[in-house]
Amino acid sequence: MIILDSTLREGEQTKGVSFSIEQKIAFAKLIDDFGVEMLEVGHPNVSPQIHEAVKAIAKEDLNAEVVAHVRAVKSDIDNALACDVDRIVIFLPTSDVHLEKKLGKNRQQVLDMITQAVEYTRDHGVNVRYTPEDATRTDIGFLVEVARQATECGADRVSIADTVGIATPALMENIVRTVSDSVNVELDVHCHNDLGLALANALAGINAGATCVHTTVNGLGERCGIVDLAPLVMSTKVHGYSTSGYKLDMLPEIYEFIESATNIPIGYNSPVIGRNAFAHKSGVHTDGVLKSPDTYEPYNPKIIGREREIVIDRYTGRLAVKKRLESLGYSISNETLMSIVNEVKIFSDANGGVSDDSLVQITGQILTQERS
Ligand code: COA
Ligand code: ZN
Repeated sequence: MIILDSTLREGEQTKGVSFSIEQKIAFAKLIDDFGVEMLEVGHPNVSPQIHEAVKAIAKEDLNAEVVAHVRAVKSDIDNALACDVDRIVIFLPTSDVHLEKKLGKNRQQVLDMITQAVEYTRDHGVNVRYTPEDATRTDIGFLVEVARQATECGADRVSIADTVGIATPALMENIVRTVSDSVNVELDVHCHNDLGLALANALAGINAGATCVHTTVNGLGERCGIVDLAPLVMSTKVHGYSTSGYKLDMLPEIYEFIESATNIPIGYNSPVIGRNAFAHKSGVHTDGVLKSPDTYEPYNPKIIGREREIVIDRYTGRLAVKKRLESLGYSISNETLMSIVNEVKIFSDANGGVSDDSLVQITGQILTQERS
């Protein structure tokens, strides 16, 4: 499996997000260093500054293939060719709803547009991916036909786009398997998250033979965004795919960069990267984790440069309080510990939590009472 990161293209389609050229170049270098294999950097026809940014990133000596996104329109393609990118992606919808209500074209006209656009681009010596937009709502026979046509015209990748995020894993698996069995081409999956199924759908696509997943940092993108990079990488790692090409401990730095460039905060409970992702609170869990972390952690947080956190409040049991007090320099007997835990719960009921300072204060009071 390889990753195409589209934070700079799909991600910039998020409401309120607009990166400067400098931010784009800095992010491109960062994510390239992380190890993604492809980097979709923009649609050069959108604005002069986006054209400049695509061109500037293409000039950087990146390991990742630099990809530009265009409509099946000659001026869009010419604009992208002028940026000297490694690959051009031509998107053109294939579902009846898009053909009838948006493009006003029939299927034959769409096939002709694909043929012209892919051949024209290939003739300029650039790698081509074709994206049948709204693929998951497309008649499967027509989807196979357009994928075959694009491949015969020189596209070496076709992206199965779940443009409105309506697929289920079973549907995605079925579509990817059907296209993959019928056409000799590498398949990408581009999964939107409108129903919260983007990651599950992408994994189903990979399971069915797709070889590339599109991601953004923090799951940015139109509406509810697309597959979030960090959970994709960690779920594939946990399930046995090789992630040795990725510098996993760079993820916090990459996410902080995008959080600050977009002003869109990372969710506290976002998988992998959220600040609560390794915070254990209830007594049963903290007891287990302190005895052996694998009881309540899917992987060691150090893999991605994170630390686990043991929360002390009214949900806490003895072992967590004992360990916290040890780290604060106290060695406490079992009877005293029970009194401290009881007091922690009462204090927490009243105050909503217990800081280390309050814990030290509670411990001091209990020790004084015991001495008198
Ligand atoms: N290939 C060819 N034409 C397409 C297309 C495709 N994949 N997708 C949409 N179109 C057509 C539409 O039918 C419409 O044309 P029409 O008005 O003749 O029906 C036009 O493209 C889009 O409408 P609009 O945005 O109003 O046209 P525009 O000429 O003012 O601007 C862009 C075109 C691309 C410069 C502008 O839409 C833009 O800046 N878009 C941002 C990038 C973007 O939309 N990306 C989507 C990625 S999924
Ligand atoms: Zn998209």
